[in-house]
Amino acid sequence: MATSITVKNLTKYFGDVKAVNDVSLTIEPGSFLTLLGPSGCGKTTLLRCIAGLEDPDGGEIYIGDKLIFSHAKAISLPPGKRELGLVFQNYALWPHMKVEKNITFALEIQGMKKEEMQERVKETLEEVQMQGYEERYPREMSGGQQQRIALARMLAYRPKVFLMDEPLSNLDARLRMDMRAELKRLHHSSDATTIYVTHDQVEALTMSTKIAVMKDGLLQQLDTPDAVYHYPANLFVADFIGNPKVNLLNGVVVGNRCVRVGSFELNLDTGHASGEVVVALRPEDATISTQPVPDAVEFNVYSVLPSGSETTIVASREDVEITVKEAGVSRVKMDDKIWLKFDPHALNLYDKDSGNLISSKN
Ligand SMILES: Nc1ncnc2c1ncn2[C@@H]1O[C@H](COP(=O)(O)OP(=O)(O)OP(=O)(O)O)[C@@H](O)[C@H]1O
Ligand SMILES: [Mg+2]
Repeated sequence: MATSITVKNLTKYFGDVKAVNDVSLTIEPGSFLTLLGPSGCGKTTLLRCIAGLEDPDGGEIYIGDKLIFSHAKAISLPPGKRELGLVFQNYALWPHMKVEKNITFALEIQGMKKEEMQERVKETLEEVQMQGYEERYPREMSGGQQQRIALARMLAYRPKVFLMDEPLSNLDARLRMDMRAELKRLHHSSDATTIYVTHDQVEALTMSTKIAVMKDGLLQQLDTPDAVYHYPANLFVADFIGNPKVNLLNGVVVGNRCVRVGSFELNLDTGHASGEVVVALRPEDATISTQPVPDAVEFNVYSVLPSGSETTIVASREDVEITVKEAGVSRVKMDDKIWLKFDPHALNLYDKDSGNLISSKN
């Protein structure tokens, strides 16, 4: 049975740095939660607090209904008693043990029978595409291979909860894709509640049931990948998620449902906003025409960046620059004129001062 994890008002200081700042979140049984955010935002620290490898300065942690950490009640279950499987950024295999022993070490302590262990080793090495490496020492493998063995070691243990900190960071792009698919499949079949740390937004979007976006130790948004992408709660999340990046256009509310950006106007739901705002537009949400069309705004093409399956076009008009995306190979060339049409249902509006969402596309 999969278990839930609940974190309440968790805080961890390193000197004056609040690495985790009053974070509260619940991870439903069997779900795949990704902690996402830029370097130094507190992802690893939060994960290590849950694992019992850091001593938080405030808050509580539950696994299921069981209180495993409480600052106020001075409760802190040691890491070994939390029944968690861990894979960390530095994969730390035991250097003097061969692959097989690295994997079976914890199983032996559990008292597993020899045949069962051998079967388990075989299964997990297949899962991480490392069949035949049983007799190698860690030093005889590449970084990516060692990382996969570290994953296999965690998987073999069949924990109720997987905690993974950038487990694919040492793999090349192609292997990383394969391993993402593999990990997602493993999560699907094992149903283990998973917390996964990455600063790679594509990894977060492709693998997670929920994403927790963090900045400076603070939780910014906890939502499904779809909601985090389409309805970012603030400008930081909007800007962090998406490649090419979202367009953030400074504007002024000039009427009911009307925002002026530079010398053109956009129609969208302005809520009760007034004054300075920021309009967010995803690159795929503008329609590109090479001829004037009603309600479209004329731009000059500054640059064209084809990448096979899609083309990124950077367009400018006076001092407004907008990045748009077209599927396939575009006919548009540098210095062409193009007309961009903005669907009011594809625009999100943010408060310029607070950065918070005012109204979202619908
Ligand atoms: N042992 C430590 N001693 C002092 N400061 C620390 C320690 N560990 C982390 N920090 C600080 O806490 C903050 C959060 O660090 P953390 O390692 O959790 O970030 P992260 O989000 O995992 O970053 P990355 O993506 O680079 O791994 C940073 O400012 C970091 O410098
Ligand atoms: Mg980290």
